[in-house]
Amino acid sequence: MMEQSQLPLVYDYEPSANHILKEVLVGLSKSQKSLPPKLLYDQRGSELFEDICRLPEYYPTRTEHEILRTRAPEMAEFIGPNALIIEPGSGSGEKIRHLLKELPAPTGYVPVEISREILLRMTEELHDEFPDLTVLPVCADFTQELELPLSVDAQVGKKIVFFPGSTIGNLSPAEALAFLRKFGKLVGTGGGLLIGVDLKKDPETFRLAYDDPAGVTATFNLNLLERLNREAAAAFDLQNFQHTAFYNEAEGRVEMHLVSSVDQLVRVNQTVFRFKEGETIHTENSYKYTTDEFCELGAKAKFKIKKFWTDAAELFCVYYFVRE
Ligand code: AVI
Repeated sequence: MMEQSQLPLVYDYEPSANHILKEVLVGLSKSQKSLPPKLLYDQRGSELFEDICRLPEYYPTRTEHEILRTRAPEMAEFIGPNALIIEPGSGSGEKIRHLLKELPAPTGYVPVEISREILLRMTEELHDEFPDLTVLPVCADFTQELELPLSVDAQVGKKIVFFPGSTIGNLSPAEALAFLRKFGKLVGTGGGLLIGVDLKKDPETFRLAYDDPAGVTATFNLNLLERLNREAAAAFDLQNFQHTAFYNEAEGRVEMHLVSSVDQLVRVNQTVFRFKEGETIHTENSYKYTTDEFCELGAKAKFKIKKFWTDAAELFCVYYFVRE
């Protein structure tokens, strides 16, 4: 095994300073208080999210894995040889392995990940598992400008963005469209997009998945306040907030909130915020799409649907689009 320090990053854009405080002050000053969902994912939040993914009630992860595991040969056939696979927010890269096992002679794999440590670890693991695969790791926040270093951009072969996990669902439909357009620019005409998106279904399934009986999602949501206490000089009393999640049918999204259980004042750095009893901080949206709705969104970004795959219970869907 190689020493981590020996592994070269193709490019390192890991953000140095964080702008957490500014974003938090803006969010808490709105009439519907909100916090940026990306703040849920500090070290502890990311670990808790992994725990969520293993919950029996949280169906998206295991269902998508199953779709990828069983349908990867067919997906690989659609993608074809000499593909350069780009995965924004690759994490530990568990899902790409299903595809890498089946792809005929890929040009390379470009994981884009904000955490340098996770990125280096997964690159090293992939080197061991797929010794012939060219891995070009990019440390970057893909939610910002998604520009690839020239050394990656110059690679030959059809570019394919792999974006599993229904991460697109955490954006508003307008933001999701902007993202799809960005992906379209990245892969160019003839390039592809393999994307996993959660399907609309009954509200009770959503409620259980996002407000699990073991309280893991509650801990994940409340961890955001703990993070702000640590990193934004805030003084949230965690006893005074409760997790809630529900399906907003009109908007087609699951919403997560933190509910203030009392009238209270909370200081964040130099600013004091007033919370009424029952007032909430909106912390995350998770949009759900029917296959028609998502294909329509893809079409607005010039992505033509080639094929989609769902599980038997039609809980989740993986789409393969080609950019026109
Ligand atoms: C990361 N994202 C796709 C998850 C979701 O289902 O929207 C985040 C999550 N929040 C609560 N549970 C899971």
